[in-house]
Amino acid sequence: MSAVLATYDSSRHLQSWPPRFARGTVPKAQDFEIQPVADAAGNLGAEVLGLDLSRPLSDADFDRLQQAHWQHHVLVFRDQRITPAQQVAFSRRWGPLQIHVLRQFQHPGHPEILQVSNVRNAQGQPEGLGDAGQLWHSDLSYKEKPSLGSLLHAQELPSEGGDTLFADQHAAYEALPEALKQRLAGLQAEHSYLLHYEALRVKSPWRPALTPAQIAEVQPAVHPVVTTHPGNGRKALFVSEHFTSRILGLAEDESRDLLQQLFAHSVQPQFVYRHRWQPHDMVFWDNRSVLHLAAGTPAHLRRKLYRTTVEGDTPRA
Ligand code: SIN
Repeated sequence: MSAVLATYDSSRHLQSWPPRFARGTVPKAQDFEIQPVADAAGNLGAEVLGLDLSRPLSDADFDRLQQAHWQHHVLVFRDQRITPAQQVAFSRRWGPLQIHVLRQFQHPGHPEILQVSNVRNAQGQPEGLGDAGQLWHSDLSYKEKPSLGSLLHAQELPSEGGDTLFADQHAAYEALPEALKQRLAGLQAEHSYLLHYEALRVKSPWRPALTPAQIAEVQPAVHPVVTTHPGNGRKALFVSEHFTSRILGLAEDESRDLLQQLFAHSVQPQFVYRHRWQPHDMVFWDNRSVLHLAAGTPAHLRRKLYRTTVEGDTPRA
């Protein structure tokens, strides 16, 4: 780890944001390029080439990345040979980090890292949340303050499968018929971590039963169905099949039908970028702009990634 990164204290992740550099250690700008990914829809997805995330990020480089994040929503940093501590340090440049409710699957040295892994430990227990993201969702949308963005760093990749799909929710909103946009204006929806939890446990019996303390930590939250991104000012659909349980103020069948219509609309191929993982990729996506989905890994193949999740603002219409 570099001397500058050592000045961060990751154990104080919530108290000490934004990070401060020690006197005389202000980082230098790096020489890097940002190129839209070739096979994505619209503006979705860009590769950041030549930036070394093991080095501390200068303010100028941070600003470039932030502009690119607001424009492309999914940034792909290739070949990042970084430690978990360096992932935490880079993630903390964007805001306080959120600790996932399933403490069982934290990285042993870094509680800010959720292990997205289907690997079993020596005792045969799952070391990570191997079935994370099998329904379309925006991370932690069930919180009062959902996630600004998530960072996923590849540790071990399968020889086939294991892709992650991203769907652009600005483009999805903009493509709605005008009458439907009018209907959605002002509507609020409930987001619940518990909505599909028991169904996921049936498919993956190793998933732990939630304790009363864990259930208390994931009380449902209510957010606008259409949000305005605080950075780029664009409107986005903010509902997902994984966490959105109902639209407030509508009859149950009307709410269900409208949500089904929006779920189907929001993930059509013209809005989607499929990320095919390469070794040491780091992908940083904007949970206010995209939904994502783990496309699935053959059960006999190992897949392991480290996820950090940055807290965002309370969503606004
Ligand atoms: C997630 O939903 O955070 C995990 C996505 C993936 O494993 O591809």
